[in-house]
Amino acid sequence: MSDTQFAKVAVLGAGTMGAGIAQVCAQAGSQVVLQDITEEFVAKGLQRVAAFLQKGVDRGKVTEETRAQVLARITTTVDRVEAAREADLVVEAVPEKLELKNGLFRELAGIVSDTCVLGSNTSSLSLVKVFDGVANPARCIGMHFFNPVPLMKLLELVRTETTSEETIDAVTNYARQLGKEPIVVKDSPGFASSRLGVCLGLEAIRMLESGVASAEDIDKAMVLGYGHPMGPLKLTDLVGLDVRLAIADYLRTELNLAGFEAPELMRKMVADGKLGKKSGQGFYAW
Ligand code: CAA
Repeated sequence: MSDTQFAKVAVLGAGTMGAGIAQVCAQAGSQVVLQDITEEFVAKGLQRVAAFLQKGVDRGKVTEETRAQVLARITTTVDRVEAAREADLVVEAVPEKLELKNGLFRELAGIVSDTCVLGSNTSSLSLVKVFDGVANPARCIGMHFFNPVPLMKLLELVRTETTSEETIDAVTNYARQLGKEPIVVKDSPGFASSRLGVCLGLEAIRMLESGVASAEDIDKAMVLGYGHPMGPLKLTDLVGLDVRLAIADYLRTELNLAGFEAPELMRKMVADGKLGKKSGQGFYAW
């Protein structure tokens, strides 16, 4: 019998974020089902968890016993209905497409129990739209994790006008069990983290574009001058230029603020396939 807030968790989407979320939930003692649409994707997700844990063992941060226990708590499937049916908490971490997220929550709301909490890891989309038409919206909440999930301390909880206090309390409690510090933010475009983080990244690109300084020096300004762990250009490379461009375009429309206008340089780099770390080239060569 688990003493975690949510004994059974379904994580939908086994990419970088989904794998990380599955790992921290399993580390907290939950039984986790990690789901994606192909066997290849779920295998890759599980491999990612195994590699992260192994690195933790190698660095003396994770015991061999914990590594084995965490992996034993994660099962995989390509069937999202099967993944969600028994869950106390469903967290989706599928691509940032509103119709995709909304469609799966509408589908799953009729399958899970009435008390099952539905969480979305969207980094900026409107939660009201993500959960539009979902039965019992009191149990719906944004659960925005940060990459790399096992290391980043923040969990940004996003409440809509219909999210219940009970849901917020349960997820806040679980966030602490995951070793995270929760903040509670109103459902507004980009929440607290993406609105500020993307704004900084876009301005850094504009500065590079207009020759204010080199990428290295712009990043050093924030790392050494402001104590950021990583400069905004390097971070954009890590997150993916395409991912950040999509967020910028969304925030530009939703917030109607000129600061979110994506720089031409960013559009050109994305069009040229320079997406950052995942493509081998961004503001840096990887
Ligand atoms: N298992 C367990 N612990 C590990 C580990 C592993 N596999 N790998 C590293 N660690 C530990 C290290 O031992 C170290 O611990 P101590 O501090 O106790 O020594 C700590 O984690 C940091 O590791 P490193 O020293 O190797 O790395 P670092 O100091 O360079 O930090 C980082 C790495 C945490 C990623 C840091 O660079 C950082 O914070 N970067 C910014 C990341 C960020 O901004 N993420 C948000 C992106 S935006 C997002 O995700 C939202 C979105 O919606 C797109």
